Amino acid sequence: MKIIVTAGPTREAIDPVRFLSNRSSGKMGYAIAEAALKRGHTVRLISGPVSLLPPPNARMYQVESAADMLQAVVENFAWCDALIMSAAVADWRPVHQAEHKLKKCSAMSNLKLERTTDILQTVAPQKSHQIIIGFAAETKNLIAEARRKLSAKNMDMIIANDVSREDAGFAVDTNAASIITQDSSEDLPLMQKSELALEIIQRLEKLPPANNITRRRHQKK
Ligand code: PMT
Repeated sequence: MKIIVTAGPTREAIDPVRFLSNRSSGKMGYAIAEAALKRGHTVRLISGPVSLLPPPNARMYQVESAADMLQAVVENFAWCDALIMSAAVADWRPVHQAEHKLKKCSAMSNLKLERTTDILQTVAPQKSHQIIIGFAAETKNLIAEARRKLSAKNMDMIIANDVSREDAGFAVDTNAASIITQDSSEDLPLMQKSELALEIIQRLEKLPPANNITRRRHQKK
């Protein structure tokens, strides 16, 4: 399969030296890219700023902001059979990016934010055969929120992780996730991110192409 994986955080510039971002290390996304390569798939890895070595044999796209990541995903989407969005894309960005470093007494306390474009919601309408897998990073109502995102963002599968746990989610080597589709939900035990990554890729391999999933859903009704 041809698989796009997104990983890491995005950075939304406030001025030349400051930005809004989050704690994503890229470990989950890079583990997925490596697992996909090990299983013989072709991988394009779209990564925000992280300090990890790129997996050999993945084609790398280094991006900075949510807008850059959106552009890279949109440009590559027609190429892929599956998109796995494990990146922690910023939901908000400053309305204005200052040309010069803001002074302590200046506009910082009046920082105005606007929503970034949702990448999954942008590409979902362009879906032909592509399977879309996303993540839900939650601190409460994990399964309900993940199910809401699965439908709202028209995904075929969502990996829900409780990011309030110290041993799961952001910046650690382990994760505990629930894997949810329209028809199923399964809680997995705590495991290495490399093991979870392999689990995700093996489940992806068993899914029918997305338009068949949609057809099956309609037939059920
Ligand atoms: O990088 P690590 O340190 O290993 O941490 C891994 C992780 C915690 C970042 C990862 O496991 C994870 O949960 N990634 C998704 C983080 C996130 O942004 O979740 P969300 O619930 O806010 O977003 C839901 C989905 O929408 C995600 O697939 C996200 O990539 C996508 N999204 C979000 C915002 C946006 N503008 N466009 C999007 O497509």
